Amino acid sequence: MKGMVFTEFVEFVENRYGFDAVDGMIEDSGLSGVYTQAGNYPFEEMVTLVVALCEKQKVELVEVLEKYGEYLFGKLASLYPNINKFSSVFDIVSHVDNIIHPEVRKLYPDADLPSFRVVTQTENKLIMEYMSNKSLQHLAKGLILGVAQYYNENIVVNIQEDSNPILLEIIKS
Ligand code: HEM
Repeated sequence: MKGMVFTEFVEFVENRYGFDAVDGMIEDSGLSGVYTQAGNYPFEEMVTLVVALCEKQKVELVEVLEKYGEYLFGKLASLYPNINKFSSVFDIVSHVDNIIHPEVRKLYPDADLPSFRVVTQTENKLIMEYMSNKSLQHLAKGLILGVAQYYNENIVVNIQEDSNPILLEIIKS
C-alpha cells in the first residue's frame, strides 16, 4: 500500500483524535510508525494501525475507515490537478476506474488499486460494484462522501455487503 495512505492516516489520527492517540496507536501496534510518501508498506501494517487505534479510542472500525476516506479525498484532490475536469459526485465516481486510477497507476506502477463498475445510473441514483483484494468498501464510502463535500452535494451511500461483488449505492438527496 502506498506510503501516502499511511502518512495521511497518521495525520488524520492526529487531527481527529489528538497527538496522544497517534503515540498510543503506534506504541500498541508495535510498529515503527515511520512512513514516507514515496514508500510502499504491507497492507497488514495499515490493518494493525487501524485496529490499535480502534481498541485504544473505543471507536468502531467502520467509523474510522469512513472518516478517514472523507479526509483522504480532500488530500487526494489537492494532489491530483485533473480533479477540476470533473463536475459532480456521479461524474467522479463513474470515472475513478477508467480515468483517475489509471492515471494513478501511471505515476505509481506498483499501486494496488480496486476496480469499480457502474451497474445502473439514473438522475438520482448510481449503483456500482467494488472489486478489490482488500475489504475497504467503507474507505470507498468515505471517499465518496468526501467527493460530496467537495462539490457541496447531499448524498447517502449504502453498502450491500451481501452481494458479490459488493455494491455501493449512491443516492442524491
Ligand atoms: C470517488 C473517488 C475515489 C474512490 C471511490 C477511490 C477508491 C479507492 C479505494 C477504496 C482504495 C483502497 C484500495 C482498495 O480498496 O483496493 C483506493 C486506493 C488508492 N487511490 Fe483511490 N479512489 C478515489 C479517488 C482517488 C483519487 C482522486 C486519487 C488521486 C490521486 C486516488 C488515488 C489512490 C491511491 C494512490 C491509492 C492507494 C493505492 C495503493 O495503496 O497501492 N484515488 N482508492
